[in-house]
This record gives sequence, C-alpha cells and structure tokens, in this order.
Amino acid sequence: MQTIHIATGKPYDVLIKSGLLDQCGQLIARVHSPCTVAIVTDNGVPVHLADRAEASLKAAGFQVHKVVFEQGETHKNLTTLSMLLEYFASIPLTRGDLVVALGGGIVGDTAGFAASCYLRGIPFVQIPTTLLAAVDSSVGGKTAVNLQAGKNLTGAFWQPLLVVCDTDILARLPEDLLADGAAECVKYGLLGDAELFELMERGALRSQMEDIVARCVAMKGRIVAQDEHDTGGRQLLNLGHTLGHAIERASRFGLTHGQGVAIGMVLITQAAIRRGLCDAAVLPRLTESLKACNLPTQCPYGQQELLDGALRDKKRQGGTITLVVPYAIGEAKLLSVPVEELSGWIDDGLKA
Ligand code: GLY
Repeated sequence: MQTIHIATGKPYDVLIKSGLLDQCGQLIARVHSPCTVAIVTDNGVPVHLADRAEASLKAAGFQVHKVVFEQGETHKNLTTLSMLLEYFASIPLTRGDLVVALGGGIVGDTAGFAASCYLRGIPFVQIPTTLLAAVDSSVGGKTAVNLQAGKNLTGAFWQPLLVVCDTDILARLPEDLLADGAAECVKYGLLGDAELFELMERGALRSQMEDIVARCVAMKGRIVAQDEHDTGGRQLLNLGHTLGHAIERASRFGLTHGQGVAIGMVLITQAAIRRGLCDAAVLPRLTESLKACNLPTQCPYGQQELLDGALRDKKRQGGTITLVVPYAIGEAKLLSVPVEELSGWIDDGLKA
C-alpha cells in the first residue's frame, strides 16, 4: 500500500492500493473512533461499491446510513446540498460523527461541502471511484457546489480526514472515464515529474495504476501543502485548464473535462514553443502520450470561441490572467499576462 501524507494545516493520509474498499472500515477506524457514518454517493456509482463500503464499516463497529443523489453536474447544486444537510440532521449526525463521500468528483465536492458546513464542520472521508477524483478532486480540500451563475461558485476549503483509494475500482473503469482522469496524470508528468510522464507515454496506466496514482497524489500534495488556499503556486495545477475549460464550454460540455484539458495542454505547449519558452521536443511527446490515453490533440474551435471562454476564467484577476506554461517535460511556470495578450497566445497555440 502506498501512503501519501498531505501536509496541509489539518494533515491527512491518502492510502492507495488495490482492494482497499473492503478494508475501508478498519482503515477509517485508525483515524476515527466508531461512530455514526453517512455514506453519500450518487446513482451513477455501482450499488455494490456502497454495499461493500457499508459492510466493511459495519464490521469495524460503525453505524451506517446511506444517501444517494441523482448523478450529473446539474445535481451538484444547492438543492442537493440542502437535501444532504437535512438528511444528516434527520439521522442525526453529531459533531463526533462522519461523512463518507463515495464516488467521483461531483460526490466528493458536494458531500465534502455539506460536511464542511453541517454543525459548522464535521469530518469526512473521501473514497474516490473515478481516476479524475483519485488524482485530483479527492485531494486538496476544495469542496463546492455550482450556482446558476457558474461552476463551483460556492464552497469551502475543507480537508478530508482520510482518502481511501482502491485502485481495483479504477482499473475496472470504462475507457472513456479512465481517459478523463488520464489527462490529469499526463498534466502532472508535464508540470513536474518526467518519470511519471514517461509512464504515461508508455501507456502504463492500467498496468501501473498504483504507482501512477501515487505519483500524481504526491505531486498534488506537495503543491497544495505550499499553497493550501490557492493564492499562488497551486495555480500550477491548472496547466491546460484555462483553454481546456474554454474548449469544454465551446463544446457545450459535449467534450469531457479530460478532453478539454488534453487539447488545452497541446495549445499552451504550441504557444510556448512559438514564443521560444518551451523545448520543441515536448510537443510530439505530449501528443503521443495523450493519444496513448485515447485523448484528442486537435482543437475543433477557433480563436474567438476560445478567447470568449478563457476570459470567463475564474482565475482572471482584473486586467491579468495567469497562464501555466510548460518549459520542458517535468517543468512548468506561472506567467501573469495582461488579458489583451491572451488572444496572441491563443493564436500561437492554434498554429500547428
Ligand atoms: N483541481 C485544482 C485544485 O485542486 O487546485
């Protein structure tokens, strides 16, 4: 088992190994005495996963309740949040009790935010069931729901007590869900871990899942520990995301987050090469490793569509926007650019 320690203000471990779901009760019992637990999941998560988590928790002495909400981004909202809070109160969960978020990023973000505000905050455990949640959203304590005005517009930084990542669940994911998370794995390699990048390039994701997830989580942990509240260095995690989000938006979310990020990384790399900032050898390696993960590398949208989307980026601060620019495999830097220069970057990114 790989144990990655996350040294945030409230530190915790991420446990990574095949088969951990059936041991989650005893693993959670190491960090929290037996209590009442609310397992929160959605109806996209296979029922047997919640049943297995429940059985393991009960065997370890926990009293278990389960609540399931409707899957999909449109249900990551205040209505679901309110339903969860009322459910916790009806059990009732007390300050000494626990929430377990079992699912992908939507479950983790929503259940985590509910835990952060119920009784002014109770502990929660993340059990990610998608690769994207395992390598990104379950680690770092960002929790949120969407508002009508946009994604993740209300939330809290609320670190989990523990993350239990069963790589057997990830290894069984369908190809499209795996690809969604694989884009983030390639991102971590490109921004700071050349060996991880090589593993992704060799198409080793399924065969070396535990090592790859551990490397991603370790890198995210290092970055988050330096900048828990996202005021500086944590923005490195947005490599490929400014243009990636614009691409997702332009596709009316027909393209997945991972597909948007994949194309976004290609565009920012092309732009950085044209500007003499990045080694030209990065581009063919990046496109090959994305293709090895069944991810797209060609942008179907034009400059204006990308610019409109990128200007709505949450990370924009007044007249500047922070770009994450790759310099080499395993090296990226933050570059603050005036918003009027963004169209030039996009132009350069779109020129092959
Ligand atoms: N997903 C980016 C972050 O956690 O900051």
